[in-house]
Amino acid sequence: MSSAPSPNGERAIEIAPSVLPADFSKLGDELAALEAAGVDRIHWDVMDGQFVPNLTVGPPVIASSRRHCSLPFEAHLMVYTPDVMAADYIAAGCSRLIVHAEACTHLHRTLGNINSLGASAAVAINPATPASAVAHVLDLVDLVLVMTVNPGFGGQKYIASMEPKVREVRALIEAAGLSDRVAVEVDGGIGPSTVAAAAEAGASVFVAGSALFNHPDGLAHAVSDLRARAAAASIA
Ligand code: DX5
Ligand code: ZN
Repeated sequence: MSSAPSPNGERAIEIAPSVLPADFSKLGDELAALEAAGVDRIHWDVMDGQFVPNLTVGPPVIASSRRHCSLPFEAHLMVYTPDVMAADYIAAGCSRLIVHAEACTHLHRTLGNINSLGASAAVAINPATPASAVAHVLDLVDLVLVMTVNPGFGGQKYIASMEPKVREVRALIEAAGLSDRVAVEVDGGIGPSTVAAAAEAGASVFVAGSALFNHPDGLAHAVSDLRARAAAASIA
């Protein structure tokens, strides 16, 4: 799904659920339920126990889940060596790989490698990392992920002081003439009370885990509510 703005400047809103809160003993069913609830893509949080103090899934789990869901998969690689396994995540069915600027000594080369492997490359920045860290690689990516929590766990509190950085990244993308190609994603603490501010700041792709899986009115309601709040704020 292109993140290109529509003729009246409205950006396509995407809801990308984090699979982290799912019941991993029945992952296939959980993915099918997410697809039925109307989400746009699946966000796999890959953690190596080094870059972040947690350990989650690798290519085998993603590959075995591929047949249960027809939506695009993105892998959020919270790992120190994304180059080593990039081809494995793509072979497992991921069409976008998100690497952390803080983990890549040669970020420009890493993003170029992902593109040359036939997948979309994207770059993520932690809360303490400035927007300028991505200024020279925007032509290599289709998305910039501004973390709104310190990565490593779901269920954390949204850091509102990241909104000016979302705005800055949006401005860098516009200044580079890449608005029709590069979207801004936010990840961490996104829910009914935080999504509007992030959308108003310039984000159009929203990762949410606990706010979707723990919603009292169920998944489908949680997804449509989040999408409506984001859409209302992004054109306000
Ligand atoms: C954190 C992950 C997020 C997280 C989101 O490191 O990158 O994707 O799982 O979960 P919530 O929406 O519960 O903050
Ligand atoms: Zn994530």
